[in-house]
Amino acid sequence: MDSDLIGKTAAYVKEALQNAESGHDWWHTERVWKNARLLLRSEDADHLIVELAAILHDIADAKFHNGDEEIGPRTARNYLQSIGVESSVIFHVEQIIRNMSYKSGLGEIEYSSKEMEIVQDADRLDAIGAIGIARAFTYGGYKNRTLYDPAIVPKPSQSKEEYKNSTAPTINHFYEKLLLLKNKMNTPAARRIAAERHEFMERYLDQFFAEWQGEK
Ligand code: ADP
Ligand code: NI
Repeated sequence: MDSDLIGKTAAYVKEALQNAESGHDWWHTERVWKNARLLLRSEDADHLIVELAAILHDIADAKFHNGDEEIGPRTARNYLQSIGVESSVIFHVEQIIRNMSYKSGLGEIEYSSKEMEIVQDADRLDAIGAIGIARAFTYGGYKNRTLYDPAIVPKPSQSKEEYKNSTAPTINHFYEKLLLLKNKMNTPAARRIAAERHEFMERYLDQFFAEWQGEK
């Protein structure tokens, strides 16, 4: 039964991510899974593949394994083989995880499918809205970044390396990445949800700057 496979996989990932950092912990995975299920209500795609890929998408992050981009897809494949999932399903899930981990625009996308579009949208939705704001400030705090500095202007198109080493305030991340995500959604369902979350971030920023100026 598909639901047994999905439940087993969730239990495995929850256990595996027990000590993960807060940006990519089990709760991030669970939210991405829920976002994916929400998208599946209006998008026509293979549920088993979407749910398994969403649950396994951050099972092993290259960042913490000397940049080994294959660690995620390989871990997912080994696990799915161990519980006897059909090989065509494993292949598809592995492709989704591999191509998602090459992040937006890095290298050529070798693979694309409706299922992959949904999982990628579900992951991106978790970077915006109320949760996205919380994640950004958590990351900024971890990196010892200031909240905001009026003298440091956001620069949206930096290389990944430049971006990683930047000491820009967390508010800049909204202009460099978070406010751009709504236009990167693949599916109409995700575009609708992103529009709402985007508007919430804009209201948040208006309030933030008004408070910064002592206007409210
Ligand atoms: P992903 O693996 O989902 O592509 P990242 O590892 O780049 O995401 O980031 C994880 C979380 O940290 C996301 O919510 C992202 O918005 C946030 N984040 C990444 N870089 C920054 C930054 N420079 N400032 C603030 N938040 C950041
Ligand atoms: Ni993720």
